[in-house]
Amino acid sequence: MEEKLSSVAKTVTSSPIQQLSFLAESCNAINLAQGFPDFPAPTHIKEAAVSAINSDFNQYRHVQGICEHVAGIMKHLHGLDVDPLTDVVICCGQSEAFAATMIAIVNQGDEVILFDPSYESYETCITMAGGIPVYVALDPPYWTLDPDKLMKCFTARTKALVLNSPHNPTGKVFTTDELEIIAGACRDRDCLAVTDEVYEHITFDKEKHVSLASLPEMQNRTIITSSLSKTFSVTGWRIGWAIAPACVASAIRNIHIRITDCAPAPFQEAALTALRSPPEYFQLLRRDYESKRNYIVKLLASIGFRCQFAPKGSFFVFAELPESCILTDVEFVEELIKQAGVVAVPGCGFFHSDAKSSQAAFRYQRRYIRFAFCKSEATLAAAATKIGEIVDATGRLKLF
Ligand SMILES: Cc1ncc(COP(=O)(O)O)c(C=O)c1O
Repeated sequence: MEEKLSSVAKTVTSSPIQQLSFLAESCNAINLAQGFPDFPAPTHIKEAAVSAINSDFNQYRHVQGICEHVAGIMKHLHGLDVDPLTDVVICCGQSEAFAATMIAIVNQGDEVILFDPSYESYETCITMAGGIPVYVALDPPYWTLDPDKLMKCFTARTKALVLNSPHNPTGKVFTTDELEIIAGACRDRDCLAVTDEVYEHITFDKEKHVSLASLPEMQNRTIITSSLSKTFSVTGWRIGWAIAPACVASAIRNIHIRITDCAPAPFQEAALTALRSPPEYFQLLRRDYESKRNYIVKLLASIGFRCQFAPKGSFFVFAELPESCILTDVEFVEELIKQAGVVAVPGCGFFHSDAKSSQAAFRYQRRYIRFAFCKSEATLAAAATKIGEIVDATGRLKLF
């Protein structure tokens, strides 16, 4: 039967992170692998969803009100003038918004620039649309952007650049200087930018998220994608959006309608309540995540991990294995599951640059572990206890 599969299907592999999540479930391990909260979603939005179902918002539906809220937020936070009627498309999460965007803008053989390491789904969407991912490495340990490396990636076939800030897996928030470099490159090379801003409200240490579209002459070449998933702890609701110049938004809308028709109707209704949440909601979200970030960074540093780069946003720590650890990232994760019953993600899954080109790159690409801290205090404390059981008398991990 396999010969019946399309050539595209053969290039799409299963997600290693989801496999690790299944493993965590099947062996009752603590899941610090996948990026979904294990604590309850906010009561006020759950009640709105229940009420929407009971009020029979259960059929195909396109709720224009969400577009108005999204446009209002863009004006308020980033000074962007977004027309809710033409420039906003509600999709099934950022994931669908991104996939539909790639179908809307990528032709066969077009190149799309990505930063390395990066979130695993982008590459699949680009290749499914017929595009070619081109990676520009961010430099560890602070994951800085080297402008020369970026400029070398542009060719006559470059169609778009993807920017995810705050960044999964590193927790980096791109600096204003870096955003200006990226914007300058996009303008000079007449290139589109596609942003993934799902962690826009999860930033720490007074760091503020700046949308690339708010830089001069960028809104007319940027497609913003984001969602409710992370901000409102509702990754299963599948409500997201794309914001783009009207003709691109129209293409994304048509593709979205042909594939899924609409995002889940009751959750679109509840999204109206979520997006109307008061400023205190967002302040508390940041404060809670900052304290979880502090907790896990301290825990990892205490057992020998090198966390020079404490995340400035998102809910991941990308920690470097202790120097004394001779295990690779994959071996370490396997041992952590077996010996401590805790699941994390080996960093190699997020790296894509041609490792053979550089021995140094090959070494660091096997040295990082991603821990998700979007978990309840009880889960984080249980993980700390389990990890504590495998440290030696000097407080260092015994896995090496
Ligand atoms: C960087 C990034 N973008 C997008 C997503 C998926 O977002 P959504 O649930 O809105 O599809 C994730 C989920 O982990 C993510 O980390």
